[in-house]
Amino acid sequence: MYRIKWYTQEEQNMDWTTSILVRDNIKLRLLVPDDAGRIFEILEKDPAIREKFVTWTAGLTTEDAVRSAIEKFQQNSSLRFGIIDGDRLIGYVGTWSNTPDGKEYDAGYFIDRDKRGKGIVTSAMKALIEVASKNLPIELFAMYIWDENEPSKAVAQKLGFTRTDVIEPEPALGGVPERRWELSVKK
Ligand SMILES: CC(C)(COP(=O)(O)OP(=O)(O)OC[C@H]1O[C@@H](n2cnc3c(N)ncnc32)[C@H](O)[C@@H]1OP(=O)(O)O)[C@@H](O)C(=O)NCCC(=O)NCCS
Repeated sequence: MYRIKWYTQEEQNMDWTTSILVRDNIKLRLLVPDDAGRIFEILEKDPAIREKFVTWTAGLTTEDAVRSAIEKFQQNSSLRFGIIDGDRLIGYVGTWSNTPDGKEYDAGYFIDRDKRGKGIVTSAMKALIEVASKNLPIELFAMYIWDENEPSKAVAQKLGFTRTDVIEPEPALGGVPERRWELSVKK
């Protein structure tokens, strides 16, 4: 006999985060604490990530500290994905709500130094924005980028983000002045 399975809202929300296809051999899946070793390796290869560029990684100078950060993501249901090439973790893209109504999401990313310049983060963010906008009531994505971070500005531009005039220092990153970029995805 054929039985229909009814999914709860929570199960439906879980489904789309299990695996997001980016291209060919590359997909996204939620970070888990066991990814800490590999994320730590990527941060060690390019200390500028935690010193100047990506707020949540600031001060994560041990593998255990990275593990605790990932555990917190799991508790507060922010969507932090590993970029997986074959079965190797090569980077991170994430998005999380910054407003109580869940209409606005912030986003961020980094990738292993050896994998840069191949369009991977742009494709990964494009896939994430597409799938998250379809499954959540998001109307706007925002990113905060230091004007001197040319590769990140290039990614934001390729994704269709526009720069705003809002610039604020990020205390966790030594006061680096970050400009707000926005992408409207209002249906
Ligand atoms: C920013 C980052 C994630 C980009 O990842 P990536 O996979 O290399 O990105 P892509 O290949 O999709 O695009 C990079 C773009 O930057 C451009 N670029 C790289 N260096 C540049 C420079 N010095 N000046 C101008 N453009 C530059 C590349 O040409 C490419 O654009 P193109 O496709 O139009 O040629 C990666 O550099 C990184 O991890 N940086 C450290 C962490 C970080 O800065 N995170 C963002 C914080 S806001």
